[in-house]
Amino acid sequence: MHDIAAFRALHEARFEAEPAIFSAPGRVNLIGEHTDYAEGFVMPAAINFATLAGISPRADGKIALFSENYGQVLYFDAADLPAKATQHWTDYPLGVISILAGEGHTIPGFSLSLWGDVPLGSGLSSSAAVEVATGLAVTSLIGVDYPRPVLARLCQRAENEFVGANCGIMDQFISANGAKDHALLLDCRDLSYKLAPIPEHVELVIANTMVKHSVAGSGYTSRRADVEAACAVIASHRPEVKFLRDATLDDLKKWGGEMTPTALKRARHVITENTRTVAAAKALIDGELHELGRLMAEAHESYSKDFEASCEEADTMVALAQNLPGLIGARLTGGGFGGCTINLVEHQQANAFVQALGELYKSKTGIAPQIHICHASGGAHRIE
Ligand code: GLA
Repeated sequence: MHDIAAFRALHEARFEAEPAIFSAPGRVNLIGEHTDYAEGFVMPAAINFATLAGISPRADGKIALFSENYGQVLYFDAADLPAKATQHWTDYPLGVISILAGEGHTIPGFSLSLWGDVPLGSGLSSSAAVEVATGLAVTSLIGVDYPRPVLARLCQRAENEFVGANCGIMDQFISANGAKDHALLLDCRDLSYKLAPIPEHVELVIANTMVKHSVAGSGYTSRRADVEAACAVIASHRPEVKFLRDATLDDLKKWGGEMTPTALKRARHVITENTRTVAAAKALIDGELHELGRLMAEAHESYSKDFEASCEEADTMVALAQNLPGLIGARLTGGGFGGCTINLVEHQQANAFVQALGELYKSKTGIAPQIHICHASGGAHRIE
């Protein structure tokens, strides 16, 4: 799928230098949505869609950023980097470079080529893949070896502070730390995690509604604000509650009346989702796939009704999957308002499932979806 030799040749032809090449994956989240910035639990897996970054030093003090996807190369002065985002694809690599500079690293001149096949704006973390690939490439060039959770945090800061999207840690963390054939139950409070093996007979079927999603969009931002407002109400009674991770349904019963009805619903999603995510990891580890599917259905319902972060097409995609042979569980994955659904499907039925879901969705919505059978992959790494 990733033609490394062709990528290397592109970089060499353009920059007349041999690149060191790195790869960072996109991700799919099995369960645990909008819980990461509330210091809760998420259970993503890295997938076999990725960004490749090729890097070689330059002697002229310039930073050349080349995107094969956008067919564009731009040059910057390493000693005088842009201080602000410009709503351009270069914001992501420049954000990472600027965060590294802010950490006290002297940034030398280099040429960086990027190529990726994570579908853009589809809730599969194409931006985290670019950030982590860039972070790994640049730190390796300057001879710095950050522990992966630290690298993930720096990439998240690039997105928060430079790009201006208020995301949590999930996407960058899983891109940096993914494990082949495993999902990862991540505690977003202390970044400790537990691996949950995905059984060989279970396929990750990712169905793109083709409705564009953006973490920089108003939906994501307003949901996060609602969650924080609900938390502030609880904290005014129980100061030890710093994030909704610390809150319970009992707190909502007692003080929900002091919240807006909207904030109350958002908080109910986050609090119940944390419980579901921990239970889902246990179900996956114990091989109780029926229970896992039930929790995924409940999570989708909560995401759609209480969090109101789904959309008609995603609800349709999830509903259509329910009656198809081989389905274990289905829900909308990622930041919401479009993007992809994740379907856990029995291997034997996976091809027929893809075919049938595609046809049903097309005839119901008039939109031809893209549906992929993906694999849980390892995290970011250097390609030798
Ligand atoms: C996006 C963000 C993540 C997380 C999810 C929702 O992917 O980047 O940090 O908040 O949405 O679970």
